[in-house]
Amino acid sequence: MCGIIGYNGNLQAPGLLIEGLERLEYRGYDSAGIAVKDTKTSSFHVIKTVGKVAELKNRLPELDGISSTCGIGHTRWATHGGVCEVNAHPHTFGRVVLLHNGIIENHRELVEKFGLKGKLKTQTDTEIAAAVFDAYYQGNPKEAIRKAVKEFIGTYAFCIMFVEEDEAEASTDEIYAIRSVSPLVATLCDDGAFISSDITALIKYTNKYFVVPENHIVTLGKNTMTIEDMRGHKFTPEYLTVNWDISAAQKGGYKHYMMKEIMEQPDVIAATIHGRISDGLPSLANDNVPDDIFKGLHSIQIVACGTAMHAGMVFKAMIEPILRVPVTVNIASEYRYQDPIVDEHTLVIAISQSGETIDTLEALRLSKRYGATTLAVVNVQGSSIARESDYVVYTYAGPEIAVASTKAYTVQIATLYLIGCRIALANKKMTQKAAKQFIRNLEQVSAHIKSILDNQEPIKKATKYLKKATDAFFIGRGNDYALSLEGSLKLKEISYIHAEAYAAGELKHGTIALITEGVPVIAVATQRTVFSKTISNIREVNARGAYVILIMEEQTVVDKDLCKIKLTIPETEDVFSVFPTSAILQLIAYYSADARGLDVDMPRNLAKSVTVE
Ligand code: M6R
Repeated sequence: MCGIIGYNGNLQAPGLLIEGLERLEYRGYDSAGIAVKDTKTSSFHVIKTVGKVAELKNRLPELDGISSTCGIGHTRWATHGGVCEVNAHPHTFGRVVLLHNGIIENHRELVEKFGLKGKLKTQTDTEIAAAVFDAYYQGNPKEAIRKAVKEFIGTYAFCIMFVEEDEAEASTDEIYAIRSVSPLVATLCDDGAFISSDITALIKYTNKYFVVPENHIVTLGKNTMTIEDMRGHKFTPEYLTVNWDISAAQKGGYKHYMMKEIMEQPDVIAATIHGRISDGLPSLANDNVPDDIFKGLHSIQIVACGTAMHAGMVFKAMIEPILRVPVTVNIASEYRYQDPIVDEHTLVIAISQSGETIDTLEALRLSKRYGATTLAVVNVQGSSIARESDYVVYTYAGPEIAVASTKAYTVQIATLYLIGCRIALANKKMTQKAAKQFIRNLEQVSAHIKSILDNQEPIKKATKYLKKATDAFFIGRGNDYALSLEGSLKLKEISYIHAEAYAAGELKHGTIALITEGVPVIAVATQRTVFSKTISNIREVNARGAYVILIMEEQTVVDKDLCKIKLTIPETEDVFSVFPTSAILQLIAYYSADARGLDVDMPRNLAKSVTVE
């Protein structure tokens, strides 16, 4: 969601901030703006625009002639107040210039308390926060921040600049930042002091950063940085190093990030699992995850959202029959408001690419309060979910820029399979021989995905029909149902084709009424155990005129007239078919969206990192 960048150093700020915002575009936004402090006059200049950062860049000439090495920039994903220039950040109120990610829930009460009626120019909660900072500002920025944040209920990451109260006691060119829940990372490097919502915006300057601790004030001076808690005690941050560089966050010759990321899957899966295989068996020793936490479990609960939750469903299908312990897959936004049955015999696994999804984070926190052991499967190092769970197993997918999650999903499944195999061994539910065979199969999945990626033409052709569709259905049984959910999510989020996924056997309990002549049905039939049953369900939709695109193993034979198009995956055991099948479903979504001329990487209304509930 909202992207934040702040800079104080020797370089010219306007271009630097815009470039930073370009790198944060993938987070999803609808307007953008920057505020820079004029080095000579100390006055602020703000430019904002609705739409793309490119439009903001076109307005840079408005700042010609201004020298500024200090400023803040923002991409806004609207929550309070419509999408318009006046609601875009940064906001100014009195002597405060500020930007914000998050939601101030008690904004109405604050309007009353601070007598703001009739004084606000925007419909945003952020402007109200600016007014509260202003009310408490009497020449001492940190004091104002300490007092103001006590007033806020909600989540926030703020970057704040203050207009000097009095030239004599000028507060110099400083940017102040503070956060609660909403993410912020920062770094002090040769080029100056930087702060951002994520490392992607800073990677051009350094691969070292730290996660801003909650409720600490960060002061970005010219090439200096201090961090202190609410009582003024200094804090020394622990720097993290990312193992990727700026090229990983670029398109690398592909038309879209999404295609680049689909193509990266064989490599990132290999990178994630290889270091965790020892003598042919899974090992989490380097992740400091002891076998003890897997023993004697009464249940495993997955908490996640969207695609990550779909990865959890695939994991359940793999582990539950082996472990014979209930595994529940929970939509994190529901879980956090339920009263889940969790105790110290429960292992809660939080799955998240960004590690910042607020619902997943809160579900994790809830389960910890109930006494569960928590394990995170996360892609972003040092993210909130990674830091707050008892144990973490990182996926090494590298930065995922496209809003539609692809490589993060398959790498999550591979990681969960590895963890599942370790859990089975720890509980003596799998022999070493069986585990070694399982791992050998897992090592094959990169090659299986590659075989799909090397032969995309049939998939591209299959989407010619989908391009014109208004609705589509995905059906499958078992793991194929979990995949159908993911395939349908992918198609709708980037192609805007209305898509629904159904357990194949469930269709005739209502939804088959929607299957009429020509309606596309993507039938996933890769599970040998239920293959004949799925085929019967495909016949049912076929008989009603559906345009069936069938995904199945290459060696399987079916009646010619069962489908219009057949796409095949290499022969593989049921639990491993998810990998090549996922690649097909991702490509179906990709080519359908691209053929419709849509913005594949940044679909409307969506954000990459969902930091509001
Ligand atoms: O960062 P997370 O994995 O926690 O994100 C969860 C979902 O928001 C995410 O998977 C979303 O569903 C994707 N855009 C789907 O492609």
